[in-house]
Amino acid sequence: MLTTIADLRSFTASQHRAGKTVGLVPTMGALHSGHLSLVRESNKRCGTTVVSIFVNPAQFAPNEDFQRYPRTLENDLLLLQKDGCTPNGKTEVFVPEISEMYPRGFDTSVHTGSISQVLEGRSRPAHFQGVATVVLKLFLASQADTAFFGQKDYQQVCVIRRITADLNVPLEIVMCPIIREPDGLAMSSRNRYLTAAQRQQAVVLSQSLQLAETMLRSGTADSAAVQKAVTEKIQTAPEAVIDYVSIADPITLQELPAVESEAVILLAVRFGTTRLLDNLHYVL
Ligand code: PAF
Repeated sequence: MLTTIADLRSFTASQHRAGKTVGLVPTMGALHSGHLSLVRESNKRCGTTVVSIFVNPAQFAPNEDFQRYPRTLENDLLLLQKDGCTPNGKTEVFVPEISEMYPRGFDTSVHTGSISQVLEGRSRPAHFQGVATVVLKLFLASQADTAFFGQKDYQQVCVIRRITADLNVPLEIVMCPIIREPDGLAMSSRNRYLTAAQRQQAVVLSQSLQLAETMLRSGTADSAAVQKAVTEKIQTAPEAVIDYVSIADPITLQELPAVESEAVILLAVRFGTTRLLDNLHYVL
């Protein structure tokens, strides 16, 4: 396990000298099958994979769950070993302390533009700045060739693609599909906060996205009609409080009045104090 940026740099340099490409899977730990699917994809495409585990304080607002965010390092390491993510000793883990990532005197952050101000940005104004800063630090520290992120955090991937392109970071971003529980709930480290009743109700998220897809495929192009049906479906869950239902352009995330051939439908819904995200990328 690597804990310093200097060790991470020399690890990557040794891999590059050995002719291997390096994939990076940035995580905040509390690993589940969604994370493991990213590791597997990285192992498939790259010679070596670095999984970073770091609960990044900069992306949490003071009223959010930084303190109670699940920290399950031992189990995370076991999962990475057990799941066959390390078939040829391919995976290295980077677990820095906060003081390694943000040493005394740290005073810089990445300002993200308009793409970070919609959707999540409305209720979490400083969130993407914190994500962009830590992700850019991880890119630079790891010197990885490719980085892997889950589609569940669709806007996060768009923001990271934007900063990577705008700042000419020489690294490829790969977005991997959402991994779901058998009943359709998108896997998330925050699902464990749900009560049993909320967990049952949370299935409406994926069901409402399926409904949207059915409507679009059967010819309803009007976004307002789809948005209304999705909203009504989510509201059948007694504890669901909708933050947004958006039908947007897959790259700019600007709302689309009508869907022609492609759109992303994005949801954020609260159950008690737990805020869940889900989305569906629709292509005709
Ligand atoms: O998606 C996450 O877990 C985090 O936002 C990330 C990308 C690891 C940055 O802290």
